[in-house]
Amino acid sequence: DVLPSDWREQVLQLAEEKDAVILAHNYQLPEIQDIAHHTGDSLGLSRVAAEVDASTIVFCGVHFMAESAKILSYDKTILIPDERAGCSLAETITADQLRAWKAEHPGAAVVSYVNTTAAVKAETDICCTSSNAVEVVQSIPADQEILFCPDQFLGAHVQRLTGRENMHIWMGECHVHAGINGADLKDRVEAEPDAELFVHPECGCATSALYLVGAGVVPEARTKILSTGGMIAAARETSASTVLVATETGMIHQLEKAAPEVNFEPVNRAAVCKYMKMITPSKLLRSLKTGTDEVTLDRDIADAARQSVERMVAIGT
Ligand code: 13P
Ligand code: SF4
Repeated sequence: DVLPSDWREQVLQLAEEKDAVILAHNYQLPEIQDIAHHTGDSLGLSRVAAEVDASTIVFCGVHFMAESAKILSYDKTILIPDERAGCSLAETITADQLRAWKAEHPGAAVVSYVNTTAAVKAETDICCTSSNAVEVVQSIPADQEILFCPDQFLGAHVQRLTGRENMHIWMGECHVHAGINGADLKDRVEAEPDAELFVHPECGCATSALYLVGAGVVPEARTKILSTGGMIAAARETSASTVLVATETGMIHQLEKAAPEVNFEPVNRAAVCKYMKMITPSKLLRSLKTGTDEVTLDRDIADAARQSVERMVAIGT
């Protein structure tokens, strides 16, 4: 596809004509982030999707995000510029597996990360994202068992912060974040001893970051475990001249916009989500021109999933 030089004007013009709002996740290509009406983390974008007046939402992100928008705003047209943009983490648990797990723990509350299919959400009591997972778990009565799925690293992080013992964690992972490991982190921290550290809780190295704190390699005050939206807020406040960033590398773009004077460096430059990068300017333009790919969802599944997503949207800042 040859991309016309005026693609930005065309995209904005078509969005206006079609009453469409463009949302982009913080891991999208920089040019997609820059053209979007709203950028943000999973929770922030779900909230926008639930509230906007536009009749069409073009979701530049991965499929479960667009599907969550459909669950929240069933009567709107939800488009994703390439429906093949999946998520390796969402594939680590199926609705059948979750039903079998629930049968082993009757009475347990199911907390699912938003990185799951609608069918899994339909079996869930309350969804969470990385920015409100702790508050979501704390909202469940202390004596009720919790089944937390599917991300093992986020689960371990939440368990550490809440001290919750009656919480069972599914052993799923995101291949991009699991690949940012403790050895990478230690090398980078040793090479940049004055740097601050922003670590996404999906990372394989989230636990290692705390070991490094415990071992005195990096001070606790300079080690922050944050969602992608939390990283942007922290970037605006940091006094460090270099920040090492452990997450998908698309994040660097918004961080540089938030704090242009700070040097943001990925802990692992190869941490690129190929699914997020499937959304390109030419596919965005095509999506607006032709109304593709439209996200469809069985009404029964959407109805069954809605309460868990609405509870997620209501909790946390
Ligand atoms: P957040 O934007 O909620 O931090 O999520 C990160 C992620 O991996 C989304 O796929
Ligand atoms: Fe899924 Fe990982 Fe990509 Fe996020 S970075 S969309 S969790 S595969």
